[in-house]
Amino acid sequence: MAEVVVVDAKEDAGALVADEIVRLIARRPDAVLGLATGSTPTPVYEALRPRLAGVDVSRVRGFALDEYVGLDPAHPESYRSVIAREVIVPLGLDPDRVRVPDGSLAGIADAGEQYERDIDAAGGIDLQILGIGTDGHIGFNEPGSSFASRTRVKTLTAQTRRDNARFFASIDDVPRHCITQGLGTIARARHLVLLAFGAQKADAVAAALEGPVTAMLPASAVQLHPHVTVVVDEAAASRLRLLDYYRDTWADKPDWQGL
Ligand code: F6R
Repeated sequence: MAEVVVVDAKEDAGALVADEIVRLIARRPDAVLGLATGSTPTPVYEALRPRLAGVDVSRVRGFALDEYVGLDPAHPESYRSVIAREVIVPLGLDPDRVRVPDGSLAGIADAGEQYERDIDAAGGIDLQILGIGTDGHIGFNEPGSSFASRTRVKTLTAQTRRDNARFFASIDDVPRHCITQGLGTIARARHLVLLAFGAQKADAVAAALEGPVTAMLPASAVQLHPHVTVVVDEAAASRLRLLDYYRDTWADKPDWQGL
């Protein structure tokens, strides 16, 4: 089962996950990171910045989870822009080694399979950072997504477009389509780290970890993965039935085990 860690604040989650990424890069200087966007991973990227100062990250690779289709890559909310602004530049990564799916209309027919080939050529993703949508999506795998799915175009649900309207001038500006790593793609990453903060995520987190494994709740796919770490604040953890057990397990965990 997933290891569930309940933290007091987002900053604690950021520090915990950033420490794990630093250990990974020390072990594997050419580590391959799976990069989420949105609000959730920000504390991880912020905590990484001071920790990676002075570390050679020139061989680290990164693959974003998803991208909007048809949005100008230069738009500040394209995930290409977000990854450049929040990850590549502050962490000093090599831009040529960090990929974002190609959401341009010109390349869209082949973009998914190309992305899969690129991930395979890099040796697969070592650590995949994940957020979770209020509708239970991971990446932009909306309810109903196949557990075997590969990187492909999806249509965003009305709920996701409403949730993401805060990044745009109006909801009408939120793209309707995206290209996202599939649930099958995410399943091949060697370590999944799912983060969630706030009461608005509590139902999705509980359903993902303790509900039935179902395509209707795409994040429930993490129950089928051998190495999952879930880092949540008290509000996002509030609907978990095994909460006391998760706390005991974490409290008793030997330091040497890592995440
Ligand atoms: C982002 C992504 C999405 C988000 C999710 C939560 O790359 O794939 O699954 O992680 O929509 O978004 P936030 O973190 O903004 O609440």
